[in-house]
Amino acid sequence: MTPHENPPPNGRKPPTSTYYNAFTLSYYDIHVLGHNMTRIWRCPTKSVQLPLFQKYFSPPEHTKARCWEHLDVGAGTGFFVAEALKSCLGNRQSMRITLMDNNLSTLKKARRRIEGVVGRLGELATVETVLHDVLDGDIPKSLGEGRYDVVTMFNLFHCLRTTAPEGKKGVFGMAARLLRGDGVLVGCTILPGREYQARGLAGVRVRYTLWLYNRVYKVFGNEGDTRAQLEEGLKAAFEEVEVEVVGSMMIFVARGPKRLGVEG
Ligand SMILES: C[S@@+](CC[C@H](N)C(=O)[O-])C[C@H]1O[C@@H](n2cnc3c(N)ncnc32)[C@H](O)[C@@H]1O
Repeated sequence: MTPHENPPPNGRKPPTSTYYNAFTLSYYDIHVLGHNMTRIWRCPTKSVQLPLFQKYFSPPEHTKARCWEHLDVGAGTGFFVAEALKSCLGNRQSMRITLMDNNLSTLKKARRRIEGVVGRLGELATVETVLHDVLDGDIPKSLGEGRYDVVTMFNLFHCLRTTAPEGKKGVFGMAARLLRGDGVLVGCTILPGREYQARGLAGVRVRYTLWLYNRVYKVFGNEGDTRAQLEEGLKAAFEEVEVEVVGSMMIFVARGPKRLGVEG
């Protein structure tokens, strides 16, 4: 058994936070969101992921009178929020954007980038950051339960390094607790199954990249992930779950957060 297959007793593997630093984040957009999403995982950022993010980011007309609350978990470089905000520049609705991550480097980079766009919105948008490991099993005290209109988790789950059965499931539960009753969880994650991989040499590249990111860089933790198990986790926390697979990417939209263990 390799050390990788022999996780610590709590099912946690070394955190991915050391991988994301000023250097790796400087080429993240071009390499990960550009090259890898298109050529390796066959789920292009520009034509699939960004339009999905934008669809749920923009507040609907009937909420105009109040502040729209968005929580982005796994902030990365802030690409999705910054790009989606640009398309909201004409809106006159106030927005509060919360970024959650277990890594200070990504939080700082994402915040700076998003604040560059927020500056153009004047008082209408604010950004706050929360340093938090989603595998901790609880929600940060500074965030209210039932506060958010939308929670986004783009490219987060394949980075969660846990083998604990409740690990990833608990993250869906966290999102359900943080969302309003009419709120939506939207996200995507890379599936490692061969059925989602291209054939021939392209498939070999996929398997090599999975091996590299899981075993060498240790920035992925998705070797045991399956669509069925992730879907089961979503259904345990939400009434309505939609799942679609594009290339190797599982896209999910979940509504109707279940108030598990909450009376009344
Ligand atoms: C692959 S990046 C995705 C960034 C962005 N959402 C995107 O799609 O470009 C994964 C992000 O999740 C964060 N992350 C990884 N494990 C985490 C954990 N256990 N708790 C909170 N954030 C985590 C990483 O620091 C990183 O910012």
